[in-house]
Amino acid sequence: MTSSKRPLVIGNWKMNLDFVEGLHLVQQLGVLLKNHPVEHTDVVVVPPFVDLRTVSSILDSERLAISLGAQHVNPNDNGAHTGEISTSMLKRLNVEWIIVGHSERRTHYAMTDEIVAETLRSVVRAGQHAVLCVGENSARREAGDYEEVVRAQLDSALRGLDERFHALVAVAYEPLWAIGTGVNATSTQVREMTEFVRTVMSSLSFSAPQVLYGGSVNPENAGSLVRDSDVDGFLVGGASLKAESFYAILQACDDCYAIKR
Ligand code: PGA
Repeated sequence: MTSSKRPLVIGNWKMNLDFVEGLHLVQQLGVLLKNHPVEHTDVVVVPPFVDLRTVSSILDSERLAISLGAQHVNPNDNGAHTGEISTSMLKRLNVEWIIVGHSERRTHYAMTDEIVAETLRSVVRAGQHAVLCVGENSARREAGDYEEVVRAQLDSALRGLDERFHALVAVAYEPLWAIGTGVNATSTQVREMTEFVRTVMSSLSFSAPQVLYGGSVNPENAGSLVRDSDVDGFLVGGASLKAESFYAILQACDDCYAIKR
């Protein structure tokens, strides 16, 4: 980690854990964090919508240093959008972070680059943090034009965004071939792509953006990934579903930051 920013680790539960299971997970995580706090790392959990109220209450009543995120949001304020949720609804539940354009939404739920850009704008205008997900699939990695994929995704989502919102945007580089596969990108690949993301963002007038990596991050690889690349943290899926494994990833980031600072 060559970046001087505080690490940020976000646990995306995806469509796992009902509100009772979610409550247990946060309680367990709370015990681990109270016994051994991570001092330098910002922590976000991102439960399914139906768990948000329960998780929000427990974070508040236990005064846990964990922020709340949502996995998706509809860009409209309200109205005839059956099955959808708005930024203001999430805000009422103390949601501060929203994942925008996760590859699972892009691939399976027709989330186009245009909808990603619109969603990102609605998030930051509501004063919430957007975690913009970008990344190539295995075909584009093998074809060698993966940087073009990521450049196009960043460009369409961020070009023209009012500078006053820039600080609310974090980017997660998540190659599709690494998500849920057990095959993480190597530190070298992560370093190359986080540098590339920073270069593209700087050409779009972003200064010092927070760039995360996601894709099969686990307690075994988190330490070396954070040490040997210049990533600012992780977006974690599977390994965020167990308190011990998520906590181990937080600790790896925290230790690395404490040493390198
Ligand atoms: P994974 O998911 O950690 O299970 O690979 C990462 C993500 O999709 O954000």
